[in-house]
Amino acid sequence: MTTLEAILTEATTYFAAVKSAPELEQTKAKYFGKSGSLTEQLNSLASMSPEEKKVAGAAINLAKARVESLISEARSRISHAELEAKLNAESIDVTQPGRMAGIGGLHPVTRALERIEILFATMGFAIADGPEIETDYHCFTALNTPPNHPARSMQDTFYIADSEHLLRPHTSPVQIRYMEEHEPPLRIICPGRVFRCDHDATHSPMFHQIEGLWIDEGISLADLKGTLTQFFRAFFERDDMQIRFRPSFFPFVEPGVEVDMEWENKGGKIKWLEIGGAGVVHPQVLRNGGIDPEKFSGFAFGMGLDRLAMLKYGVNDLRLFFENDVKFLSQFR
Ligand code: PHE
Repeated sequence: MTTLEAILTEATTYFAAVKSAPELEQTKAKYFGKSGSLTEQLNSLASMSPEEKKVAGAAINLAKARVESLISEARSRISHAELEAKLNAESIDVTQPGRMAGIGGLHPVTRALERIEILFATMGFAIADGPEIETDYHCFTALNTPPNHPARSMQDTFYIADSEHLLRPHTSPVQIRYMEEHEPPLRIICPGRVFRCDHDATHSPMFHQIEGLWIDEGISLADLKGTLTQFFRAFFERDDMQIRFRPSFFPFVEPGVEVDMEWENKGGKIKWLEIGGAGVVHPQVLRNGGIDPEKFSGFAFGMGLDRLAMLKYGVNDLRLFFENDVKFLSQFR
């Protein structure tokens, strides 16, 4: 059996060299494990006489205490080194500026919409809503566009597999839905998403429209012209803005018009920009909505919300609205 002295000399060297917690455990086992050298020493006491035991036991206890203190020294050295390494790896530069929480803001299309809603509300319009996945009936048939009607090809539509449903290509189905649920007089706008197979700088497969519908006794094309002219002048804050109504065809209105607004481009040239379609609601559409066309009449319009936002805020590419680039969006905060 190795002498206590030899054990202590060896232990001093071993524990000084230990570098990690698992290594420390292994080294500790060399002395205190089942067949560890200090355990052997302790076991040897059993075969000694009481006198020998007294002397040897005291010596072993001293050695044991010594090894225990070597262990605790090694333990604190290791945890110190580990902490040091961790701190070095996670160095904190206290001179660095703090990370700011970004300030969000409303999307320019949302801003334009809120403005539009307020302006129409001051003219007594309520705000209605309808589903984005629509029935063929509400999108076309009820709007006086029966199956196989050539006007269906005016809009390239995304059909859902069952062909009874589609992503609505315009907000006009809300006219029917609203008429089905309400008695005239009706005066609503309905903003919402619409979908068409179109994609370039001024067309996106998803865009926004604002539908308008006013039905009461004696409502005419004159009311449409007055309402829209008033709206555009207020929206663009220009009292002299000219609005043009060009004869056009939509199956659900008669007469139908295309609405153009006068716009001065950057070079100072005056242009007419098409901003929506409108007209006097077709008697058949009123009937389909459960309204008596002998008693009531009205007008409807559909405008491009994104187009209005582009003009209002001077944005020249529609795609910027949908890219979610913070550099673009933060200009509207
Ligand atoms: N729904 C038509 C379109 O998207 C616009 C429109 C609405 C025309 C209401 C007339 C009346 O093209």
